[in-house]
Amino acid sequence: MILTKDAFGEDFIWGVSTAAYQIEGAHNSHGKGPSIWDVFVEKKNKIFQNHTGDIACDFYNHYIHDLELMHSLNILNYRFSISWSRILPDGTGKVNQLGIDFYNRLIDLSLELEITPWITLYHWDLPHALEKKGGWRNRDIKEWFGDYVTICVKHFGNRVKNWIVLNEPTVFTAAGYFFGIHAPGKKGLGNFLSAVHHASLAQAHGARIIKSIQNDSVVGTTFSCSHIEPFTNRDKDIVAAKKADALFNRLFIEPLLGLGYPTDDVKILNRIEKYMQQNDENELKFNMDFIGIQNYTREIIRHATFVPFLRAKIVSAEKRKVEMTAMKWEVYPESIYHILKKFNAYSNIPPLIITENGAAFPDRLENNQVDDPKRVQYLQDILKQVFRAKQEGVNVNGYFVWTFLDNFEWAEGYHPRFGLVYVDFQNQQRIVKSSGHWYADFLK
Ligand code: BGC
Repeated sequence: MILTKDAFGEDFIWGVSTAAYQIEGAHNSHGKGPSIWDVFVEKKNKIFQNHTGDIACDFYNHYIHDLELMHSLNILNYRFSISWSRILPDGTGKVNQLGIDFYNRLIDLSLELEITPWITLYHWDLPHALEKKGGWRNRDIKEWFGDYVTICVKHFGNRVKNWIVLNEPTVFTAAGYFFGIHAPGKKGLGNFLSAVHHASLAQAHGARIIKSIQNDSVVGTTFSCSHIEPFTNRDKDIVAAKKADALFNRLFIEPLLGLGYPTDDVKILNRIEKYMQQNDENELKFNMDFIGIQNYTREIIRHATFVPFLRAKIVSAEKRKVEMTAMKWEVYPESIYHILKKFNAYSNIPPLIITENGAAFPDRLENNQVDDPKRVQYLQDILKQVFRAKQEGVNVNGYFVWTFLDNFEWAEGYHPRFGLVYVDFQNQQRIVKSSGHWYADFLK
């Protein structure tokens, strides 16, 4: 069966996603302050071949051409993020008008081209000035974030309706504050748990602020999620898989829905109490208009006696010798079906939108063309699974490809290419891959 766009219904939202630090470049232009990523990439051996996002896709200077290209590919919804330190170079206080001007131009041109903007307010690039005060470990971040959100909604809300509060809080708290492999490079349980709780608070607080300023806004937040399976049917592996599921998939959605942190399955989460104040549990709740699902793969989990706190570990795709992407993630499209079913099963869940999904493959530029049949196949297989879930009654209303342009893939630098459009980072040339042409045809 060939699946068409029409099968998903007229109201289904189709788009692409990007993030400021991964594409904009212009890292210190026109009054922008440094973010934690600008600082982190300067440290030796944190990023693949010490790449930086200083220039990236230079989207800041190429956005006109890029939006026109998007339009030519029939893409009608564009999810991008705002760089907090471009708007507020010190994180709080004085607004950088040139930063506001840039996003105004971006929004205006999108609308002119009939592309609907979806703004992510936080996609990991915290102003460095705020990290110096503790960043996500400092409870004051709830107010700092609230002030920044207020400024964005007041400036852009007359033209932008769709807002995403946070991008994947589990990833930025775990990678940035527990493992130290992402900015700001902090490690340890205390850093992680405080960051988790404050991100949870900021998530609901930010959403409340958007609604209070713009009551017809459409507000959501996004979660990274992977279908989890135990390595064997042994009890120990089953318990390990449950813990991983609680941490990877349930940590942020459940407090948001009023269910509290998943402490039953991960006892160590009880230590979050140390950071909680009276009434926090209520404050973590918010009725979002949608939940953004971001899925790339599944994880297989086994018991591991020597892993502290969790006693669980991932059995890598490489070890299992299964088909993998350039990120060494298993190609497993059914994961998205299981995740949609899982989230849809929460009793008071709002509609789901897939705000990110895609794959990195080793693309090659030959005769000014990039042929990427594996990505086309991956996207088609994913859409079949989304359709399967939808047919079974899952309330899923949209799908955004990660990502439009090849870009700076965090700790992996420019090595993995996720784009529908190939970027030659030597000369900033854009070449639409066959997957980009396929998506354009699909959307026609
Ligand atoms: C993030 C993106 C990232 C993508 C692929 C998601 O975790 O939101 O910024 O590039 O996955 O790794």
